[in-house]
Amino acid sequence: MDDLFAPVRPRTVLAEGAIWLPGFVPSEAQTLHQVIADVSARAPFRHFRTRMGPMSAAMTSCGACGWIADPSGYRYSRTDPQTSQPWPAMPDALRHLAVRAAAEAGYEGFDPSSCLINRYGPGAKMGLHQDRDEGRPEAPVVSVSLGVPARFSFGGSLRSDPKRIIDLLDGDVVVWGGPSRFAWHGVSSIRETFHQQTGAMRYNLTFRAINAALFRP
Ligand code: SIN
Ligand code: FE2
Repeated sequence: MDDLFAPVRPRTVLAEGAIWLPGFVPSEAQTLHQVIADVSARAPFRHFRTRMGPMSAAMTSCGACGWIADPSGYRYSRTDPQTSQPWPAMPDALRHLAVRAAAEAGYEGFDPSSCLINRYGPGAKMGLHQDRDEGRPEAPVVSVSLGVPARFSFGGSLRSDPKRIIDLLDGDVVVWGGPSRFAWHGVSSIRETFHQQTGAMRYNLTFRAINAALFRP
């Protein structure tokens, strides 16, 4: 499969500092699915409620801190508010994948402290936003897609900047940093399709380095 699609899905610079690595994760990466199952057994997927209502993507995290949302806002927390326990440690398989992808995109020495795991069912989406709660603007964001495809919009530092629209497939990685670190991005409503390993679901792992001074209990 990788070879079949390689010629038509070359690695692509989306904007300065942002690179799309199609099929970077080998499709036989069964380990990642096992890791997601292990993490979510200890820190279950949940739909955070924001001021705008419940988020359509279900989320969990691993690493020294996890991303959380509630009606008062967004932040990184050392503990899972649902279990009051620390988030599961980031498994080496995840850390190594993220470090390798960052280096491939030109960001050597990436040291992620958090991996947010998003699970999208049919119809779930993520509105346009910037990742800006991390306090480490020099470190990129590494995003890994698994399962059914998603239409991903990637723009610039202004919300109104023109967007590139790409379809992220199982095993695709996008890395954004440098001049693209605060690019606006979002995911359109997931279409109901089937993937061998995930059924109707899409998973997205985003790795971030976070300033420890910003972690809350
Ligand atoms: C995110 O922006 O946190 C997730 C992006 C994605 O699901 O591809
Ligand atoms: Fe994001």
